[in-house]
Amino acid sequence: GPVTALVPAAGRGVRLGADEPKAFVPIGGTPMLTLAVNGLVAAAVVDEIIVMVPAEHVDRTAALLPPDAPVRIVVGGAERTDSVRAGLAAAGDTAFFLVHDAARALTPPALIARVVDELRAGHPAVVPALPVVDTVKTVDSGGKVTGTPDRGALRAIQTPQGFAAGALHAAYADAGSATDDAGLVERLGVEVRTVAGDPLAFKITTPLDLRLAESLLTARPA
Ligand code: CTP
Ligand code: MG
Repeated sequence: GPVTALVPAAGRGVRLGADEPKAFVPIGGTPMLTLAVNGLVAAAVVDEIIVMVPAEHVDRTAALLPPDAPVRIVVGGAERTDSVRAGLAAAGDTAFFLVHDAARALTPPALIARVVDELRAGHPAVVPALPVVDTVKTVDSGGKVTGTPDRGALRAIQTPQGFAAGALHAAYADAGSATDDAGLVERLGVEVRTVAGDPLAFKITTPLDLRLAESLLTARPA
């Protein structure tokens, strides 16, 4: 069945601190949203793409997307969850969804294909995962350390996250909020499978991340 990609691109980019929303900030001259959509197209496993952008940026968005690609533009919401919900509401019948942050602009197409392969193999929820390199601690509101989870059991989770269409619709039918889509699906008791992530799928969040992305793109073969 068909694969629909939902691309949340409606964030403000507060931590990046640029003078426009993050998805519209260029890397090597090309906006992050354009790079992210190009990656989805290059993976050649996606049938339809829906991008969610801030209301006041809808008009300029079409010109940033490949003219021949099956892309639709919808208005996002106040939180990422609201943006994904808006994309979901605009989607037609599909077998699978990918939810993929525009801010992961350098995601290799091979990772996107890997997630879809696992969906097609019958897994209802698939997320890219990387080992955590730092020790992670829990702290209380005063900053006192309350625990040190075993790092070997921790993973950093990326996008694209893939879902059987029914699972994502069911997850978003509830009013909950989470920092990723799999978090909502987990609450339904759906098993979430990890696949190997890729360091290049990092989320461009801070000015340091942007500098890293710039230098990677300069070094990348066309
Ligand atoms: N996003 C969205 N709608 C929102 C918030 C976030 O579509 N209301 C998108 C962002 O555009 C981004 C992705 O979700 O592609 C991941 O979010 P994040 O990295 O937090 O981006 P921002 O929210 O823009 O950044 P910040 O939190 O620093 O403001
Ligand atoms: Mg944010």
